[in-house]
Amino acid sequence: MTRETDLKGAVQEQFGRVAAKYLTSAVHAQGKDLPVMVEAADLRGDESILDAGCGAGHTAASFAPFAAEVVALDFTASMLHQVEVLAEDRGLTNIRTRLGDVENLPFPDSTFDLVVSRYSAHHWARPGKALREFHRVLRDGGRFILSDVLGFGDPVCDTYLNAIEVLRDPSHVRDFTLEEWSNRFASAGFNLEVVFLYRIFVHFDEWTERMETPEVNRAAIRALYNASPEEVREAMQIDEEGHSFQCAVLRGTASVR
Ligand SMILES: C[S@@+](CC[C@H](N)C(=O)[O-])C[C@H]1O[C@@H](n2cnc3c(N)ncnc32)[C@H](O)[C@@H]1O
Repeated sequence: MTRETDLKGAVQEQFGRVAAKYLTSAVHAQGKDLPVMVEAADLRGDESILDAGCGAGHTAASFAPFAAEVVALDFTASMLHQVEVLAEDRGLTNIRTRLGDVENLPFPDSTFDLVVSRYSAHHWARPGKALREFHRVLRDGGRFILSDVLGFGDPVCDTYLNAIEVLRDPSHVRDFTLEEWSNRFASAGFNLEVVFLYRIFVHFDEWTERMETPEVNRAAIRALYNASPEEVREAMQIDEEGHSFQCAVLRGTASVR
């Protein structure tokens, strides 16, 4: 088995176990980024949208009332079941689920007007490949809107951030920095705009319980909190309750092929 297959298996195993918790998670169900993402899409109402790495479907459900249809794609089957529960609960009949990998999309070229993705990209082993796939399935001039945690340009802060993330969830790959996104958007053929910078505060207990982080890893995260230098404590706003993440909503407009 390759390292990449292992990693994808780890993501599916991890989210497969905890899928139902993502339906009720406040960070995912709410969030100031959701209305910003919808506004940034500037929808007419007749669009076909792909939600890539849809999880329990909160992003798909936010866009569905303003579009013709939303295809909610994830490679964890039990997440797609949560999307169906959410769509039924909200009476949203224009959400379709699809099992698939963001790095190898099961759609022909030029299928969608808009691709959105929220809090999934930090699990992607090859984000550049995913972005090229989004560009391929978008019609000319279509848009990609991403919301995710950002890494730090400062290497010390970035190391602590990603160490804490991977201790909490072994399927975490990387919180990419704005510079890394900027390079990848450009290589995939997207013009990048930074739409919104924001922070989310995570409560340590709720954050680790949602992912069923083992006690040994919880203790290691606490040890890193305590060992972190001042610049890390400040950058991540570490306190006795938990810490915060810096996040961004980014918009890419696909260049004409
Ligand atoms: C935190 S959840 C997404 C949250 C959701 N987008 C929301 O707005 O509430 C992350 C999801 O990304 C999915 N994922 C990670 N890597 C993926 C990949 N390569 N292809 C498809 N889905 C992926 C996981 O299965 C998981 O369901």
